Amino acid sequence: MFTELVMKTRSYRNFDNSVRLSARELTRWIDLCRFTPSSANRQPLKFAYAFRPEDCERILPHLGWAGYLTEKPPYPGKEPAAYILICNDTSISPNCPDTDVGICAQTIVLAAMEAGIGACMIGSINKGALSEIFSLPETIVPRLIIALGAPAEKVVLTDAVDGNIKYYRNEAKTHYVPKRPLSEILLPEIK
Ligand SMILES: Cc1cc2nc3c(=O)[nH]c(=O)nc-3n(C[C@H](O)[C@H](O)[C@H](O)COP(=O)(O)O)c2cc1C
Repeated sequence: MFTELVMKTRSYRNFDNSVRLSARELTRWIDLCRFTPSSANRQPLKFAYAFRPEDCERILPHLGWAGYLTEKPPYPGKEPAAYILICNDTSISPNCPDTDVGICAQTIVLAAMEAGIGACMIGSINKGALSEIFSLPETIVPRLIIALGAPAEKVVLTDAVDGNIKYYRNEAKTHYVPKRPLSEILLPEIK
């Protein structure tokens, strides 16, 4: 079951935004992050969320979507229903490792997918604009945002051929994600 969840937890960039998310669901997923590993157990990450359509609308223009695609998702009417912003509290840790951010992000997207909600981690963000929208003090620095909503697109895993890892879409807008084969990522055994 865990394997299935991992396979199903793809990056979704188009959503059925008639399915709305509540503060309760978002905070439940954020709450899980308290129980994840953290470098030196510093736990410097802070989380903000947005779910009201008018707030989500303000956030969208400050995110970079799907660098490899020319036609950028989300398509009109398929915008995310909510966001979770992961920030570093620099008063606790001036340089929180990316590992802490990644662990929390993956925990959130797995928990969301378990509830049928898709997500996309977005590192390409306008930090200044997001700080303003979320009224963040200077010590709280945005690191990653997670877009969330009911998936409204098909994402298919494929094998990466000749090291080509660029995701692409066909005419039906199915999103294909090439993954390197095990033989390519496995290093030789100890001699
Ligand atoms: C740290 C991180 C940052 C990412 N930033 C972006 C981003 O700015 N925009 C975007 O559309 N996708 C972003 N992604 C999603 C990746 O493009 C996606 O994980 C990759 O294409 C593989 O697809 P998969 O998640 O379905 O396996 C990011 C993923 C990670 C882990």
